[in-house]
Amino acid sequence: MTDAVLKYGDQELPLEVLDVTDGDRGLDISPLRSSLGLVTMDRGFGNTAESRSDVSYIDGEQGILRYRGYPIEQLAEQASFLEVAYLLQYGELPTASELDAYAQRITYHTMLREDMKNMFEAFPHRAHPMSILASATSALATYYPDALDPLDPESVDISARRLIAKTPTMIAWSYKYAVHQPYVYPDNDLDYSANFLKMMFSVPAEVYEPDPVVVKALNMLLILHADHGQNCSASAVRLVGSGHANIFSSIAAGIAALSGPLHGGANQAVLEMLSAIYESGDDIDTVIKRAKDKEDPFRLMGFGHRVYKNFDPRARIIKTAAEEVLEALGVDDPLLDLAMQLEEIALEDEYFVDRKLYPNVDFYSGIIYRAMGFPTDMFTVLFALGRLPGWIAQWRELAADPGARIFRPRQLYTGPAVRDMTPIDNR
Ligand code: CMC
Repeated sequence: MTDAVLKYGDQELPLEVLDVTDGDRGLDISPLRSSLGLVTMDRGFGNTAESRSDVSYIDGEQGILRYRGYPIEQLAEQASFLEVAYLLQYGELPTASELDAYAQRITYHTMLREDMKNMFEAFPHRAHPMSILASATSALATYYPDALDPLDPESVDISARRLIAKTPTMIAWSYKYAVHQPYVYPDNDLDYSANFLKMMFSVPAEVYEPDPVVVKALNMLLILHADHGQNCSASAVRLVGSGHANIFSSIAAGIAALSGPLHGGANQAVLEMLSAIYESGDDIDTVIKRAKDKEDPFRLMGFGHRVYKNFDPRARIIKTAAEEVLEALGVDDPLLDLAMQLEEIALEDEYFVDRKLYPNVDFYSGIIYRAMGFPTDMFTVLFALGRLPGWIAQWRELAADPGARIFRPRQLYTGPAVRDMTPIDNR
């Protein structure tokens, strides 16, 4: 079907419009260069779809997020994280017996090779957990060379399960090393979130019972972070995977991409921003003024999104959860009040209204993580833990796509035109 025609000089190029289930349709511009000698320019890929994807759907104008068609609100309320991980991997919600079998297959892989301990110990105690996680994830490829072929579905499946099973252990062990405590081994009788909390916060000298309020909240937060279309880190995962790199290297690239403060690193940056405002005693108007000042690099962290021009549906859920979890835990955190005041004022300010800047997923999540006892520099690894099934699903989708090609953007060259080299003595 030819649905559009591009005019350039006296030439006309018919372009196909591609159908979708929901959202924006696509204009296939692939014949543009060969027919007209033109490439497209689209900074930050604001208007470019590289792939078709079935994994998640976002309507930024309406503030809608769905995984495989299911509204995020329903999944956050009713599902377990492994149920959502299954949904993202295999496309359908599992039956009770499928979920049970999947959970067992994950649980079987929760331990790390014992000699991986040496790797954690090679890092400085104060190393950032995201750097350690990216390195440890990449290192998994060295322990499992038998299952690295990206084109072999069985290898991919076992590597995917190893990743989901071992990441909580890697995160918890990097923390234990940082705080000079003994490593705590996985407890396969516990569910995914409870086991992670136990590895993080228990010590061999004491009995540890994970708090059900914390387990439930963590499960919900992991679900809310599990996928988000072709964001920066998912695109990094797909880009690296497009060259047929193994899944561990590809996911390590996603972790590296997520670490930046404009992406997942924003949850740490929000908490640091709120703490700095609280400690300095600055009033909120001063902070808002700074965020609006183009001469000042300061931005209101946790605000704004490339896709959402309305409330981020995840932020709505997390804000309500923050109030409930803090109350249930008996935590009175002045930073929650501060965040709510900041949000209220920003949402009425013309600058934020005109640019459609709303709180994003990172604005309130750190306040819950803090109440649970996580140190600020671990917030982004929690985002990574949640996003892992989405990255894997995105990577698998690309690996299984017969139309996939290595990612290789074009450029508009603006450097010097051809010139002759002057011998070094004459320069
Ligand atoms: N504070 C102040 N001004 C902002 C902010 C903000 N947080 N975000 C965007 N703007 C302004 C920006 O200066 C620009 O203004 P103007 O049109 O006058 O030049 C306008 O809004 C559009 O912003 P943009 O930078 O062109 O938008 P983008 O889609 O390229 O960037 C963003 C999106 C998320 C990187 C950006 O909003 C931002 O830096 N936010 C703060 C960091 C943050 O919270 N990141 C987490 C994102 S959500 C989770 C995730 O992806 O990991």
